[in-house]
Amino acid sequence: MKEYNLKKICAKEALKQIKPNSIIGLGGGSTIAYLVQYINEENINVKVVTPSIKTKALCFNNGLEVLHTSLIDEIDIAFDGCDEVDENLNAIKSGGGIHTKEKLIASMSKEYILLIDDSKYVNTLTNKYPIVLEIIEDSLSYVQKEVKKLGGNPETRSSIAKDGYTITEGGNLLIDVTFEDIQDAYGLEKNLKSICGVIDTSLFIDKVTKVLITGKDGTRIISKNK
Ligand code: 5RP
Repeated sequence: MKEYNLKKICAKEALKQIKPNSIIGLGGGSTIAYLVQYINEENINVKVVTPSIKTKALCFNNGLEVLHTSLIDEIDIAFDGCDEVDENLNAIKSGGGIHTKEKLIASMSKEYILLIDDSKYVNTLTNKYPIVLEIIEDSLSYVQKEVKKLGGNPETRSSIAKDGYTITEGGNLLIDVTFEDIQDAYGLEKNLKSICGVIDTSLFIDKVTKVLITGKDGTRIISKNK
């Protein structure tokens, strides 16, 4: 029986979008890890910016030059994974806890492309994943109170690997907020971002320009203007 590694196939397809000598963004996750490998194998000359420490290390190990994001104000094209993306190309990127840096790369990029297998493509965003808020520590109780007013159930992220809360690279906390459903992703994003203390949310609204969706029948591309 033929074996399918959808993430590998998707990463290979993504290679076709990269122009030599460009600055590219590479997010986090296993599909991006395959893409790093392929860029090295194909010897494509690019410079990389990344929100992910893991991807940065992988780039170094694959001989790719990584630039400091703070020195760059525009990126030609960026690739990332996600937890879920809908027909309007709005996405949830909650798992990694690095959404603030990922969203910055998305905003800086002329093209921001998600690489997914078809299980992640939905009609409208669901409540399968929490919406994550990166917040300043002092705002913890206040943000929890305000989130409850919006119908959310907040839980401060922690890990069994360390006592206490998970601290982001920016020295902030993460709150996982579950909602019964997400009827108005645009409104929700606006309301959550307007809470004082919230740095950014894992809802990516109007950021994604393309999605490469790989399934057993191949890869299709869905596009949207930024
Ligand atoms: C986490 C993300 C990651 O980019 C995503 O989970 C990576 O997925 P995969 O490992 O399937 O490429 O958005 O919030």
